[in-house]
Amino acid sequence: MHSEFLVLEKSPALCGISDLNGAKNAVLVIMASLILTSGKSKLCNVPFSHDVFQMIALLESLGAGVVIHEESQSLTIDTTTIIKHAVNAEIMKKMRASILVMGPLLARFGKAAIALPGGCLIGDRPVDMHLNAFARMGAEISLDGSCVYAQAVHLKAQKFILAYPSVGATENIMMAATLIQGKTTIVNAALEPEVFDLAAILKKMGAHIDLLPAGVIEIVGVPELKPVTHTIIMDRLEAGTLLLATAVTGGEIALPQGPGHSLEVFLEKLCEMGHSVDTGIDGIGIYFKATKSPKAVSFKTMPYPGFPTDLQAPMMVAQCLADGTSTVTETVFENRMLHVRELQKMGAHIELEGMIAKIKGVDRLYGAHLIAPDIRASAALVIAGIAAHGSSTLSGIHHLLRGYQNLCGTLQKLGARIIYKSEAI
Ligand code: EPZ
Repeated sequence: MHSEFLVLEKSPALCGISDLNGAKNAVLVIMASLILTSGKSKLCNVPFSHDVFQMIALLESLGAGVVIHEESQSLTIDTTTIIKHAVNAEIMKKMRASILVMGPLLARFGKAAIALPGGCLIGDRPVDMHLNAFARMGAEISLDGSCVYAQAVHLKAQKFILAYPSVGATENIMMAATLIQGKTTIVNAALEPEVFDLAAILKKMGAHIDLLPAGVIEIVGVPELKPVTHTIIMDRLEAGTLLLATAVTGGEIALPQGPGHSLEVFLEKLCEMGHSVDTGIDGIGIYFKATKSPKAVSFKTMPYPGFPTDLQAPMMVAQCLADGTSTVTETVFENRMLHVRELQKMGAHIELEGMIAKIKGVDRLYGAHLIAPDIRASAALVIAGIAAHGSSTLSGIHHLLRGYQNLCGTLQKLGARIIYKSEAI
């Protein structure tokens, strides 16, 4: 038995040019969408994070053939041989995104069985919006303990008015609707770039999808979809994480592939802090230089294009080291403040009331023994550890590996002092 952890040391100003990986929250749903086709598709710019390997295992458990091309960061996925429609509990427990195979399985085979994806530390993560949508489409939904079965001879096109622009529910409805006769409409749909990347590959497969103004998506079903080749969009969340690591160490980096166009609210907040941020033509490329005296800024997480909830924890670290008092409000998840306790261990002045954190900036953070509670909090604690005086240890790093292909390696190349440790226990 081994315990894996990171040792994080106060690091010099991060400097350099960095590539980015493909977006985790695009590739997972896009891999699931391939179930809608029968044949061999190729995905390029795939981030090989642990969640991607979990999705590979899930597709293989259904009968798909997957070939991993590590050197070219690509996958070949053959869905001709999918014969099963049930996702086992083990896989569901490890990756909530498994719910995203339900729409494609229902649309292509008329049935699906999944173990209810358990909640996680950031919230209960219910899937009621997904299941209610399938029921409204005509699927028979039944629950047996922690397993949910869906069966439908014919799914029916419907108009959905989402009470909340759920990313996953939008994606599941959109995928199911591609093979349903008639027009399906989603009002108040999620507008995240990852949803748009899914729509892009579905259209390449032959789906008829219109992304209308004000968050309306219309899908007119077709008899079948064909396998394709697709390049995953760059990860805006990895880009934001690298910028914040540079901000707290007072450095300067260039992200030539940085999707500045999908980070505008976040980048504006960095400018309000006094950092220098430029983006390239059409917003592709982000050029960042940290200010020596960052000012505190407040923000509220919102559905896209608002401030992304997945950058809330990393941004909070920058607020802890900024001059002044700020308020961070989490509105998307009901328990996404687990990093606060860890930052307080490092000397951060944070008062938490529900999902509202009041932060009083301090001159420095101090090294501590840290435990990562979730994917984005783990990235935040790496950022805090390389900014803090002294040395920190960070355990729970499986969360980091789930969300990023090699965040520590990328940060080390920019000058971060991070050491991976594995000790027998
Ligand atoms: C996706 O999760 C992302 N995950 C999350 O990233 C991201 O934080 C989230 O969208 C918001 O942008 C993937 O794409 C794999 P939601 P998802 O449905 O689809 C509630 C990360 O760290 N809700 O928009 O689960 C839900 O509980 C992860 O990369 C219901 O109540 O997000 C949450 O409070 C974390 N019922 C809110 O809506 C439902 O049926 C937003 O959830 C569905 C959602």
